[in-house]
Amino acid sequence: MGVVVRRAVVDDAAGIAAAHAAARLVAYRDFLGHELLSGTFSADKTAIWRARLAAEPPPVVFVAIRDAQVVGYCMVLTPSEDEDSGGVVAELTRMSVIPDAWRSGVGTALVSESLSFLQQSGWATASLWVLEQNARARSFYAGIGFQLDGAETVDPWSGQLQVRMRLELTDAT
Ligand SMILES: CC(C)(COP(=O)(O)OP(=O)(O)OC[C@H]1O[C@@H](n2cnc3c(N)ncnc32)[C@H](O)[C@@H]1OP(=O)(O)O)[C@@H](O)C(=O)NCCC(=O)NCCS
Repeated sequence: MGVVVRRAVVDDAAGIAAAHAAARLVAYRDFLGHELLSGTFSADKTAIWRARLAAEPPPVVFVAIRDAQVVGYCMVLTPSEDEDSGGVVAELTRMSVIPDAWRSGVGTALVSESLSFLQQSGWATASLWVLEQNARARSFYAGIGFQLDGAETVDPWSGQLQVRMRLELTDAT
């Protein structure tokens, strides 16, 4: 695979922004309108990521690097910002892999590193939100062991239903 996963630094901002736009444009065009997608992903999000990564304390973001390029990234929230998390559930968020690296294990490597981080930090449960129609990502997460927990909400950006999945970290491989 030739991919290394490590914690993100501020200078990864441009690579993360590019990976985000590339992944979402291809992944979401199956079920979201072209206008929404091109409007959202034509704007460069590098400055937003630079500010996010420079925050103190720094956020927990992992990047997958192949040939000196960011090919994927994932962010971890401890705790999840969901009101019902009770402060004891962590959340995986902002997960993307560039399309030309799909199905080569990059997503698995990112989640694996994120879940190891959570286990080592004493978290017992991880959740995530995914668009109900995002079959690719739902299959990916289900393969790792995440299961629907019944929570649903409407994503304000897309107006689409999103569903929550959850994993007990003691069950994680
Ligand atoms: C979802 C995503 C992160 C998966 O990343 P990836 O690097 O392709 O994942 P992996 O190669 O580690 O795949 C691991 C397993 O997940 C499952 N999987 C991944 N993509 C799948 C697909 N399109 N259909 C069915 N199963 C899939 C398979 O079981 C796969 O194992 P296999 O390739 O040996 O069969 C990637 O497709 C992506 O970035 N999508 C766009 C952004 C997105 O939707 N993010 C999630 C937001 S909540």
